[in-house]
Amino acid sequence: MSLCRPTYAVIDLAALHHNYLQIRARAGCAVLAVVKADAYGHGAVAVARALGTFGIDLLGVALLEEAQELRDAGITTPILLLGETFVGQEAALASGAIIPCLSDLASIRRLDEEGRRLGRVLPFHLKIDTGMSRLGLLPTDLARLLAGLAPLAQVRLDGVLSHFALADEPDSPVSARQEDIFRQALAAIRAAGYAPTYIHFSNSAALFSRAIPECNLVRPGITLYGGLPGAAFAPHLELQPVMNVRSQIARLKTIPAGTGVSYGHHFVAPRETVLAAIPIGYADGYNRRLTNGQALLRGERVTVVGTICMDWILLDVTAVVDVAVGEQVTLLGRDGDEIISGDEWAARIGTISYEVFCAISKRVPRVVVAEGLKVP
Ligand SMILES: Cc1ncc(COP(=O)(O)O)c(C=O)c1O
Repeated sequence: MSLCRPTYAVIDLAALHHNYLQIRARAGCAVLAVVKADAYGHGAVAVARALGTFGIDLLGVALLEEAQELRDAGITTPILLLGETFVGQEAALASGAIIPCLSDLASIRRLDEEGRRLGRVLPFHLKIDTGMSRLGLLPTDLARLLAGLAPLAQVRLDGVLSHFALADEPDSPVSARQEDIFRQALAAIRAAGYAPTYIHFSNSAALFSRAIPECNLVRPGITLYGGLPGAAFAPHLELQPVMNVRSQIARLKTIPAGTGVSYGHHFVAPRETVLAAIPIGYADGYNRRLTNGQALLRGERVTVVGTICMDWILLDVTAVVDVAVGEQVTLLGRDGDEIISGDEWAARIGTISYEVFCAISKRVPRVVVAEGLKVP
């Protein structure tokens, strides 16, 4: 029996599978699942393992140590390191069969040296900066890079990628400009004699809003987990929440009208009120701006009242008949037909669902369930 408080995040692999199938149906090509940042807070090993059984083609991480965690857990799916590779990481990349995304000659030369040391040809993907202005090679530097790459025999240019800056705004002209720049870069790479296995550009937003015929790999993240890549996608996407943050009523009390509640007494009971104390707070990722938001009890919405504490929130459960200590409360995710989505939290907090999921802290144990999951 667990000695922990009854607050946990249920990771629903059947929902993950549902979202994966939506992505598969739309993609029509190979799919790389982005599982960086502990699979956006969902637990990278469990998510990657499940995706492996679904038939995912590649996994994408941001950090070498994230890739190593997957390898240490016995995951053999090809892994692309989407972030930077730092000096001295080459041997670990090679030994873990982790493919880096590189964008400068110095990094490629270091990989080549490692390849020479091992007597192997090591693959890498070339990242082109088409308008994100973060990582990647500026197209003006491409010719020089290709000239420098030509004599390097221990590396193989196995992929070309870029990243959209405004794909979450499907009407933005920036994406079309980025695509044009990408096509020109691709043409130059092919003209130099390279035939990379993978060409990829699309995150979730681009996958569900653009068609890029040159690409044969997509890189969804947030949609796997049931989050929307932008408000514009709400009417089109049928996704299910993978993370369900649940707890239980720890204490109930009835307070008379006029009683102040929690720090600052920012909420004062307008009538006799039944309050339920729930053991979750901002230390768990339950953001302080979620006061006046909602939670689910018996599949119905109840209101969060008073200041969010580090370890506690309070719910107004006055209208719930025979409410009892120990009843389950869903803070995020599904209870019956009702859903409190990451996007609902995000709208209240003023952020994006990505941050909502990533912010659910390590203090909240992840409990993986696969109820109703049928993978052929
Ligand atoms: C390079 C790259 N590709 C793909 C993704 C996945 O994006 P999304 O979660 O919006 O699908 C990310 C996430 O930030 C990324 O950095």
